[in-house]
Amino acid sequence: MGRVTLTQYLIEQQRAGRINPDLRLLIEVVARAVKAISVNVSKGALAGVLGEAGTDNVQGEAQKKLDVIANEILLQANEWGGHLAAMASEEVEEVHQIPFDYPKGGYLLLFDPLDGSSNIDVNISVGTIFSVLRNSSGDGEPTEQSFLQPGREQVAAGYAVYGPSTLFVLTVGNGVHGFTLDREMGSFVYTHPFMTVPSETHEYAINASNMRHWEPPVQRYIAELQQGVLGPRGKDFNMRWVASMVADVHRVLTRGGIFMYPLDEKCRAAGGKLRLMYEANPMAMIIEQAGGAASTGRERILDVQPHKLHQRVPVILGSASEVERVVAYHQEG
Ligand code: AHG
Ligand code: MN
Ligand code: MN
Repeated sequence: MGRVTLTQYLIEQQRAGRINPDLRLLIEVVARAVKAISVNVSKGALAGVLGEAGTDNVQGEAQKKLDVIANEILLQANEWGGHLAAMASEEVEEVHQIPFDYPKGGYLLLFDPLDGSSNIDVNISVGTIFSVLRNSSGDGEPTEQSFLQPGREQVAAGYAVYGPSTLFVLTVGNGVHGFTLDREMGSFVYTHPFMTVPSETHEYAINASNMRHWEPPVQRYIAELQQGVLGPRGKDFNMRWVASMVADVHRVLTRGGIFMYPLDEKCRAAGGKLRLMYEANPMAMIIEQAGGAASTGRERILDVQPHKLHQRVPVILGSASEVERVVAYHQEG
């Protein structure tokens, strides 16, 4: 039947009883917003979208113009369809309610509109990450509490990576599937069925400038990798750090390895660097669905009980055997 599009894939999932029409619409709308973000990202300086917005977000981080643009695109695209009860974004402090003149649905959508924004102005890959939860808090307006569900409750999760091509990677709990944007046709084409994290690996991703701040288990693990053929692992490892979680995790998903933003002395007070609800949880669901593992070092990420919307956590994810080793080093103390 020729090329399968994201729309066709989602209709098949609906027919198989894995998703309902509202969740199908939700994913279609997110994918449509991703196309619009992709256009803005790729125009760069031509559209005047580079540089600082001149504002700070809830985390006290300077917003880039594209952070603000991507956030607006996602909020506006998702407000009117009737599939959502509310939204939450890295760029918005409070829960974003659906305007009263639109119908409301049963899902909660969370997103990091633009991940890796420090890379925008240097023309390196950035992304979008999203997570979908059920709203089980009744008819009233959802509150922050409505969102505070562990990641294992996610009904869908995904990301888009704006790289040499724009790729949309999705799970609805039935494996991980990738779709490449055909820019001429304006549609996502099903190019990566049932993606799995290769178990044999010789690559790791960590910001090594934080080395002196790491905890002993992480110091030990990385030191062993760096000793290569001469160390206990008996083979050489390579290192990569894009500093866009989406790009780093996408590489791990594609060719194996481990991605870490562990707890360290610099981020201890905040609980970690990466955000639980719209970075760690959706990526953990994707990686687990692809046969990998995701942990804080002390707990499975998808089991972490959130206590606030913009909570941060340590993240260690990728090939299962490597993640298990890091967890074991934490247990050994
Ligand atoms: P965001 O741009 O959404 O704030 O996320 C940036 C995150 C993540 O994408 C990346 O892995 C990490 O920050 C990079 O941190 P360092 O600059 O400390 O390496
Ligand atoms: Mn991010
Ligand atoms: Mn971001």
